[in-house]
Amino acid sequence: ALTPELSRQTKLKEVAGIPLQAPTVDNWRQIQTFEAKPDDLLICTYPKSGTTWIQEIVDMIEQNGVVEKCRRAIIQHRHPFIEWARPPQPSGVDKANEMPAPRILRTHLPTQLLPPSFWTNNCKFLYVARNAKDCMVSYYHFYRMSQVLPEPGTWDEYFETFINGKVSWGSWFDHVKGWWEIRDKYQILFLFYEDMKRNPKHEIQKVMQFMGKNLDEDVVDKIVLETSFEKMKENPMTNRSTTPKSILDQSISPFMRKGTVGDWKNHFTVAQNERFDEIYKQKMGRTSLNFSMEL
Ligand code: A3P
Repeated sequence: ALTPELSRQTKLKEVAGIPLQAPTVDNWRQIQTFEAKPDDLLICTYPKSGTTWIQEIVDMIEQNGVVEKCRRAIIQHRHPFIEWARPPQPSGVDKANEMPAPRILRTHLPTQLLPPSFWTNNCKFLYVARNAKDCMVSYYHFYRMSQVLPEPGTWDEYFETFINGKVSWGSWFDHVKGWWEIRDKYQILFLFYEDMKRNPKHEIQKVMQFMGKNLDEDVVDKIVLETSFEKMKENPMTNRSTTPKSILDQSISPFMRKGTVGDWKNHFTVAQNERFDEIYKQKMGRTSLNFSMEL
């Protein structure tokens, strides 16, 4: 039999068919009634799509490229995570409510679960999408090291869980499609992880314009450098090294793992790849979305 330390007692709960961590579901009322403000900027991602990366970019822009200001706190504390809950600690909503405007917040919620006040206040949304296969691989390693998510099982078992949308925050397909389909209806800047890898300067300039900022080119170059994978992996304010092992066990897999495009090729079997492509076509066939699977 497994010793208690080895078998995680974590179970996901659901809201409208979307699996979420239990404390989030238990706090759902507070989350849904969250009051957004018109000058809020919300960073939105499916998990493992480059959330931490875009957060650091946005903060560097907000702080006009001053590294010391970005070191004021660990990245998780700089932008309140709307649906985060872990009583008795203050929830993401509590933290957002305490934050002076203009606020920068973050979420992994799919469009249908977003607190409605974000829509009625016509907030700005910054969405980052990552190709499904790399996202799935990254999430697998995160599931392995996270002690607050259920056990992922073997890669083959996890493969089924992921394609069936039974991972935390639900289906990658529905999430990305949902945000993509409304991108012209609201103030949404829709970015791709792969573009950020290919041409970080160009994507950072887009974010800057979207935020209404105008920084000199040498500052933008500095932001490119400071937000590189290598720099962020070494930076204790971004690499989660201060998160206790009882929550993230980085001896199993580091949070800043590889940061590349195409690692899926080291995980998918030929049969899994064919099957995945078929499912992808079924689920995403009618969208105009187009992802780079390698650089
Ligand atoms: P890998 O597991 O493929 O390495 P999130 O922040 O949404 O949880 O996403 C984490 C993923 O983004 C991890 O992917 C991590 O390595 C990658 N990442 C974090 N910072 C990055 C950066 N500066 N450049 C590229 N990838 C980065």
